[in-house]
Amino acid sequence: MRVSVIGCGYLGAVHAACMAENGHEVVGVDVDPARIERLAAGRAPFVEPGLPELLATHVGSGRLRFTTRMEDAADAEVHFLGVGTPQRADGAAADLSYLEAAVRSLIDAVAERPGTRPLVVGKSTVPVGTARQVGERLRARGMTLLWNPEFLREGRAVQDTLAPDRLVYGVLEPGQQDEAVAILDAVYARQLADGTPRIVTGAETSELVKVAANSFLATKISFINAMAELCDRTGADVTVLADAIGIDERIGRKFLHAGIGFGGGCLPKDIRAFMARAGELGASDSLSFLREIDLINARARQHAADRVSRALEGVLTGRTIAVLGAAFKPLSDDIRDSPALAVANKLALRGATVRVTDPAAMDHVRREFPVLRAVDDVEEAVRGADLVFLGTEWPQFVQLDPVATRELVAQPIVVDGRNALDPRTWRDAGWEYIGTGRP
Ligand code: UDX
Repeated sequence: MRVSVIGCGYLGAVHAACMAENGHEVVGVDVDPARIERLAAGRAPFVEPGLPELLATHVGSGRLRFTTRMEDAADAEVHFLGVGTPQRADGAAADLSYLEAAVRSLIDAVAERPGTRPLVVGKSTVPVGTARQVGERLRARGMTLLWNPEFLREGRAVQDTLAPDRLVYGVLEPGQQDEAVAILDAVYARQLADGTPRIVTGAETSELVKVAANSFLATKISFINAMAELCDRTGADVTVLADAIGIDERIGRKFLHAGIGFGGGCLPKDIRAFMARAGELGASDSLSFLREIDLINARARQHAADRVSRALEGVLTGRTIAVLGAAFKPLSDDIRDSPALAVANKLALRGATVRVTDPAAMDHVRREFPVLRAVDDVEEAVRGADLVFLGTEWPQFVQLDPVATRELVAQPIVVDGRNALDPRTWRDAGWEYIGTGRP
């Protein structure tokens, strides 16, 4: 099939490459010429395992193209909307201006081709009610809309797109859009043949599925971070607590890793946009708990900075701290709302010299955080440091040799912001090990 993907950020670029892998003729559209130039050369504009290989194969074969001109995509049978919906600069709600611009330019491009009646498929995370509004405008132009939220995780985006947990199709008029559903089934023939569950529901439900899923995940993380606060007060161990409650399959062990909390381009802004939308709908009370989730998350960062400060007897001026990790999670170069950098900044503001290193995100750190000293490797970061802080659990940091690292530092104190290091090995090597919610 001829498919377009409008918006080539984390979601769109991966989706375009995976749709080419599915066997379709794909054109990716984005307004950013630098991004398009990179993608058109078969190079990934961000770190994402598996993406470079897919781009090389399918851009190489000509099955996957990239353009800044919507006209070049106008003959597609299916258009995916994959633009970003970040938090608005002036509040908690989602900024829908990119979506608005994409829809307008799609309508104009399709109007130039009388007789074309493409299917439009929304993938962006949007406030509930958006799909119906967009769908009605498109219907007036002879186009049909389905909402098909995306659940990919950064760092596993290719895998999550090629083999998703589920496919959700939101239709504006349930029972009356069988043709559109059949077209989307053809786009995802490979995933459906692999047995991926497919849920066809109303547009509003599909929009809510996405924000409900992310709210639940954020709640799980803040729940365990709240338990970590109690563990810190009582001498209990949150990692054992998480193991013990996680054995109950109704609870599950995943997303119960206590530490410096969640960050990135999705969970923080999605829970805030959800609360803002609930307010507009007169249902603020229903989601008031999410405000608490956000506050616990902010406290997790604050408590980590306090822990570092206490370990250095409250004096950070003149001290050197090595922060290992800048990305909001491993296997990504994304530093949006990164917990590691939030802690690093707090320490710098309290007067410490903060050296940061990360295997993937250093270019972004250099550009956006001039107050931090960006260094290229762990050795440079830890040499002469008064304290080492683990901010992102990259495997190469988790596997650091505490014996060799001890030789490099001024003081062997490690604060583990992710509870990812083995306390016993570090203590045996002579370190003062300070975890999160662990005695
Ligand atoms: C998230 C959702 O998981 C995904 O389904 C959705 O489509 C987009 O948003 P992502 O932002 O890639 O994906 O990150 P995720 O793996 O969910 O992690 C979010 C943050 O929570 C990271 O900062 C991570 O370090 C943190 N986290 C995760 C914890 O602190 N503890 C955990 O137990 C799990």
